[in-house]
Amino acid sequence: MNDTLTIIPKPFYIQKGSKIFKYSSKTVSLSINGERIEDILKKTQTAFTLAGIQSSENGIPVLITLLSEKTAADQESYILSIDEEGIQIQTCSASGAFYACISAAQVINGSDGELPELTIKDQPKHIWRGFLLDTCRSFYSTAFIKKMLDACALHKLNIFHWHLTDDQGWRFEVPGYPKLTETGSVRSDLTMPPSEEGFYDEGKNIRRWYTDEEIKEIISYAQDRCIEIIPEVEFPGHSSALLAAYPQYGCTGGPYKVENRWGIFPDVLCLGNDEIFTIYEAALKKIVQLFPGKYIHIGGDECPHERWDVCPKCQARMKKEGLDSAAQLQAWGTTKIASMVAGLGKIPIGWDEVLDNNKHNALPANVVVQSWRGTEGGIKAASMNHKVIMSPCDRFYLNLKNKESFEEPGRLGVTTTKKTYTFSPAGKELKLEKAEQRDLILGGECALWTEKLPFSRNAEYLLFPRFCAAAESLWLPEEKKDFEDFKQRLEYHKKLLHSLDYLYYEGILE
Ligand code: ACM
Ligand code: ZN
Repeated sequence: MNDTLTIIPKPFYIQKGSKIFKYSSKTVSLSINGERIEDILKKTQTAFTLAGIQSSENGIPVLITLLSEKTAADQESYILSIDEEGIQIQTCSASGAFYACISAAQVINGSDGELPELTIKDQPKHIWRGFLLDTCRSFYSTAFIKKMLDACALHKLNIFHWHLTDDQGWRFEVPGYPKLTETGSVRSDLTMPPSEEGFYDEGKNIRRWYTDEEIKEIISYAQDRCIEIIPEVEFPGHSSALLAAYPQYGCTGGPYKVENRWGIFPDVLCLGNDEIFTIYEAALKKIVQLFPGKYIHIGGDECPHERWDVCPKCQARMKKEGLDSAAQLQAWGTTKIASMVAGLGKIPIGWDEVLDNNKHNALPANVVVQSWRGTEGGIKAASMNHKVIMSPCDRFYLNLKNKESFEEPGRLGVTTTKKTYTFSPAGKELKLEKAEQRDLILGGECALWTEKLPFSRNAEYLLFPRFCAAAESLWLPEEKKDFEDFKQRLEYHKKLLHSLDYLYYEGILE
């Protein structure tokens, strides 16, 4: 029996007793007191299964008692105790039951035939605990996405942000616009520099978009794991794939191509052309039809304005709308798309550029701002009373290298596990004007942008263990975080990840 409890993210409160209970098999026997048995049973069984623990009649008894619904703040909370009778769980929600079983599974996995006497009272610091996966720069199988949803669930992340459109690929079907996928998902050169010709082209002829059936399957898989999916459709930049399919929506009329290169490209949607709102409406309606969640991400990042400066249609739009610069055209477009999303009954999210150049078009109040260029955008958004998601690139982008070395994969700098761990979305380092603005920070998302990651195995190597660090930093209040303690638990946790076949980086963490 090890002395450290091996749960990641660490629970809010843990009290260990002096007794030890022996058991003979690492299986569990689940039972439930209360209503909604089917729903809860399925979720709790899933929780144990994804941590590699099977059910059996003679397994460790796990009794879940469902309490009546309490406040919204209790939605993900649970109490778990271990005593002579086995494992007792009390919660008022399916997610509370699910997370309790994840914690129980991790305790069982980290123990060796003996369970400690224990009381855990647990609840997350943040309601928004996310992971972004870019499936455009590299295209991944649904099997890998499910594997990542398992990883989210195992670390109590409840948001999967699915980046579905970008310069290098459009990944879902839109009725009336078949070329978005037929043309927009295919790059002419899958090798991506620098590599020898043909090195990455094994899958050249595979379909590189997700069918409706696949998307529905992913959504249902996520629901079983208490995860909401946030689909992202980029607007108005990062749109080379759309333009390659429908060149009439760019300022110059093309021709364009699905990008083989990485970076920021000058050809973006022509905001002087009303028809772009027709294609976006079709795309967003399709998203609404597929995704049951409350939010749609509308992008907004890294959009150059140079084409708009010289495009007659864009210039006419600027004149008509009384705008002083091409940059202000983006804010005008954002308000249009945000109101389209609201009209479809969803809440828009945008990258922090949606705060820029909006002298004539104030950002609609319902837009949630995702801060990626550091935390400044999030601070500004909170000061304007917007809700905020924190994803500062220097702390929460897990595609950065783990350490400075030519031999390590990753790009755009280094962020260590410690740097990720020590970031707290609403922590003391944020200089907010008013205390209540802290409450607007819903939480954060760690992100994996997938330039140079054509193989999902390489993606795993970059993710773990920083993914675990991000999960704990989203679950625990800042004052309870302790990196040395986290590192100790990670030694056990890595064995679990290894047994579940996740690759991870083994080098220095700080
Ligand atoms: C971003 O990394 N461009 C959101
Ligand atoms: Zn234009």
